[in-house]
Amino acid sequence: MDFTRPLAAFSLAMFAIGVNACGGGGADGGPVAEGHRLFNRTCAVCHGPGGRGSPRLGKSLIDNAFSKDLSDAELVEFLREGRSASDPLNERGVDMPPKGGNPALTDADLGLIVTYLRSL
Ligand code: HEC
Repeated sequence: MDFTRPLAAFSLAMFAIGVNACGGGGADGGPVAEGHRLFNRTCAVCHGPGGRGSPRLGKSLIDNAFSKDLSDAELVEFLREGRSASDPLNERGVDMPPKGGNPALTDADLGLIVTYLRSL
């Protein structure tokens, strides 16, 4: 008899419950709050708290014209790629690193961050 199977099924179920509890909002707020949390962890170091921008680092993301011109999907794409200092479109001469330098961010995470950016 194989005793490992029920255990594996149980772990999977617990994992699914965990993901449901944490994904896309959860108890402490919706996607905007979740996006804000991710933003604070990865982006605020350069773009400032609340995306207000920082003089020599990230630009202000409040009412940001560049973001407004892009669809949500295009903005996710931009965040995935970043804009290196050598890019002719780069104005600050400072890297906007791919995924803000946090390779652990998934497309879903980036989508939540975009939802947050849209709220600024
Ligand atoms: C290491 C610093 C740094 C981090 C971390 C960072 N950025 Fe940036 N970001 C920049 C810089 C610098 C620019 C401006 C580049 C330029 O001059 O074109 C920029 C540009 C942008 C732009 C384009 C704004 C515009 O007007 O052209 C967006 C949108 C953006 N960042 C979002 C984010 C998000 C969301 C995160 C987190 C996932 C993030 N950034 C993390 C430095 C950073």
